Amino acid sequence: MRPKLVVGNWKMHGSRQQVTQLLEGLKQGNEGLSKDVAVAVAPSHLHVGLANELLTGSQIALGAQDLHPGEEGAFTGAVSAPMLADYGVSYVIVGHSERRQFFAETDAVVAEKFLAAQEHGLRPILCIGESLMQREQGLSEQIVLSQLDAIVAAAGVQAFRDAVIAYEPIWAIGTGQTATPTEAQQVHWILRDHLAELDAAVASGVQLLYGGSVKSANSGKLFREPDIDGALVGGASLKAEEFLAICKSADF
Ligand code: 13P
Repeated sequence: MRPKLVVGNWKMHGSRQQVTQLLEGLKQGNEGLSKDVAVAVAPSHLHVGLANELLTGSQIALGAQDLHPGEEGAFTGAVSAPMLADYGVSYVIVGHSERRQFFAETDAVVAEKFLAAQEHGLRPILCIGESLMQREQGLSEQIVLSQLDAIVAAAGVQAFRDAVIAYEPIWAIGTGQTATPTEAQQVHWILRDHLAELDAAVASGVQLLYGGSVKSANSGKLFREPDIDGALVGGASLKAEEFLAICKSADF
């Protein structure tokens, strides 16, 4: 069985005090969790340094929410993969729908970020997912496969040996409307099956996370689906107790 992975995407939330409190709570509560469940948090870039200090010696891994594809240079406001790696970051989210929507990120830019992350030893968490309109038009499968194929074309299927994919239907993000375990499983199976046509070993090893209104009340059922290997959690990752309950529900 693939190990489970639960990642908290804190988005643009948190003060120094809130970050400290949340991480202290997570460190305490995380102790009893089995080694089969990996846990990571992705604070804002500004809080990565603080989080790195607070997480020293803990089992909780550090993630980031985005990166610039370049190594360094005149890119005002941007943060590069080497900078993140220097601060102990091991996972980085790429292609989140909020980046695609509000920052006009295309599949091509997402692919560059994915490659830059891997080049510097960071594990990309590639986000893909369809909008409500696309879903209503019956285009879900086509959209997620084309988003996935854009990265396969740029990086090759072997790149998914050390990458994570998060299926996040946009209509489920922050809406309280989760995909049912059966709906999510269906898409995850399509993704894995698609990769299996290219490389069976890569497909069976790649971790596929679900994201979109995950909370402790629905996570256990999602995690019991055969192709759901964890979750990318937004709002519910901002409360230590609730996030820990989600992590514990992956431990079975
Ligand atoms: P919510 O869990 O708040 O719906 O957000 C999901 C998400 O976008 C995680 O990346």
